[in-house]
Amino acid sequence: MTKKYLITSALTYINGVPHIGHLAGAMLNADFYARFLRAKGEDVLFVGGTDVHGTKIEVGAAQEGLSLKDYITKYHEEHRKVYEGFELSFDAFGNTDSEQNKEMTWRIYEGLNKNGYISEKITKQAYCEDDKQFLADSQVGGTCPYCGYEKAKGDQCENCTKLLEPEELKNPYSTISGSHNIIFKDTKNLYIDMDKMQSHLESWVESKKGLWPDIAYTTAKKWLKEGLQARGITRDLKNGFSVPREGYEDKVFYVWFDAPIGYIGITKEWADKDPVNRHWEDWWQDPENVVHTEFMGKDNIPFHSIFFPGMLYGSGENWTQVSFLKGTSWLNFAGGKISKSEHRGVFLDDALAEFPADYWRYWILANSPESDDAVFSFENFTATINKDLNDVLGNFINRVTKMTVKDFGTNVPALGEITEAEKELYATLDTLIKQYTDHMEALEIRKALADLREIWVSGNNYIAKTEPWKAVKTDKARAGTILNTGLNLIRLFALLSSPVMPAKAQEILALFGKNKQVVWPEEKAEVLLQALKEGDSFVAPELLFQKITPERKEELKVKYKEGV
Ligand code: MF3
Ligand code: ZN
Repeated sequence: MTKKYLITSALTYINGVPHIGHLAGAMLNADFYARFLRAKGEDVLFVGGTDVHGTKIEVGAAQEGLSLKDYITKYHEEHRKVYEGFELSFDAFGNTDSEQNKEMTWRIYEGLNKNGYISEKITKQAYCEDDKQFLADSQVGGTCPYCGYEKAKGDQCENCTKLLEPEELKNPYSTISGSHNIIFKDTKNLYIDMDKMQSHLESWVESKKGLWPDIAYTTAKKWLKEGLQARGITRDLKNGFSVPREGYEDKVFYVWFDAPIGYIGITKEWADKDPVNRHWEDWWQDPENVVHTEFMGKDNIPFHSIFFPGMLYGSGENWTQVSFLKGTSWLNFAGGKISKSEHRGVFLDDALAEFPADYWRYWILANSPESDDAVFSFENFTATINKDLNDVLGNFINRVTKMTVKDFGTNVPALGEITEAEKELYATLDTLIKQYTDHMEALEIRKALADLREIWVSGNNYIAKTEPWKAVKTDKARAGTILNTGLNLIRLFALLSSPVMPAKAQEILALFGKNKQVVWPEEKAEVLLQALKEGDSFVAPELLFQKITPERKEELKVKYKEGV
């Protein structure tokens, strides 16, 4: 049986608009991979969505005076829209609050419980007598015992960065109401006994050595080395799924319990829309035939490499586990910490208002923070867009089409005799395309993008060397051969660029009319460059890409507070 490819990208919290860092960490890499595999004809399911439970969302809703339900609906929709703007081609897109996800969450919990992995513990927790509720650590405010900062939070002091316990705060108060009527009260919660899975997870993670990227493997190893401990899976909150157990009527599951299960819940929600043709089990309960690749930022790695695999394992069912975990570092902003309230950095809605999605996609993938943090600046963005997309790719397309129209009209000229120059081009492309494809398969994203750029450059080199503007004066048939090859190169470049810049690729393919379908080029370059035949019609494009002027760049730097 042929393999199926399950692709998931971390579900983003809905409080706050996502920025380019979110795109770089998970979703864009996942989309790039999904598009590549689909073009190769693979069976792909790309799952994504939003994470809508937990304290952050509860606080966000309270701040806006919205019910949880309305808040979730509003921001889920906002996220969905910007992702669509970035051409993220999710097959299944949902949020973690569906009936299907609740069903899956309960199912996994019941399995864990039946297999002896669930225990109960009593701890002390802040309770506000006026709010009549328990407060999450981050909902308790007070004075930092270390630096005296008066607005420290129960999990951390923002001023001196010390990690805190809520009991340490002096003069504690509720950040919900401001009330100082705080007591520390016993509360019981359910825990998943990760310690009992230590040896199983150790050998499982060991089996990923050399397979997972370093950052993922070493993070998982570090957790295991510290020794796994029981982790709470319920909370005294309102925003979450109810817990099917006596004595837990006022509690909900912890956000990190049902969030990764959300991938399964979202798949089931998608399958339920077409029960005859779609089966969630084909994806999630078929480990032999499914390759599951997960995409996320590095802070999410422990949850996906240890916690979620442990949950699935302990539930006793035959789940599809992650095969390849693509964790990345951070994409930072040259001007400092990205902040909506301080109007610093580029949020996704602003990004789309400034430039076509494909400009961003190209820059972010080319500078993917794969093993180390990367920095976005308009300085660098401008240089990259102007050079790679305008001077290299755009200019090639313009020159070849304009020259052809001028000397041959809008039909592809005949391919005459193949010379050394063409043979050299074929050989270069065969090597580069193989390298590009291999890097994509291995999810070496920066390297793949460097290959793509080299492929475009090879087109420019070919034209510079064969000089069709000279040939046309002495040997028109020869000029025709060069331009025939040039037009075929344009089409090939579009196919190869499509996982990176899907809209631009479609725009370019449309120049050649009819067949805009993206099929991954797997033949030899010599064959690929004969797809367009003599007489096929084409149109010369209007400006495909536009340069960013120095003035515009300076404006952007000021507008988004890049600093100088
Ligand atoms: N919402 C989390 C974050 O932004 C990621 C959740 S990933 C999931 O850090 F798998 F748990 F959904
Ligand atoms: Zn402090």
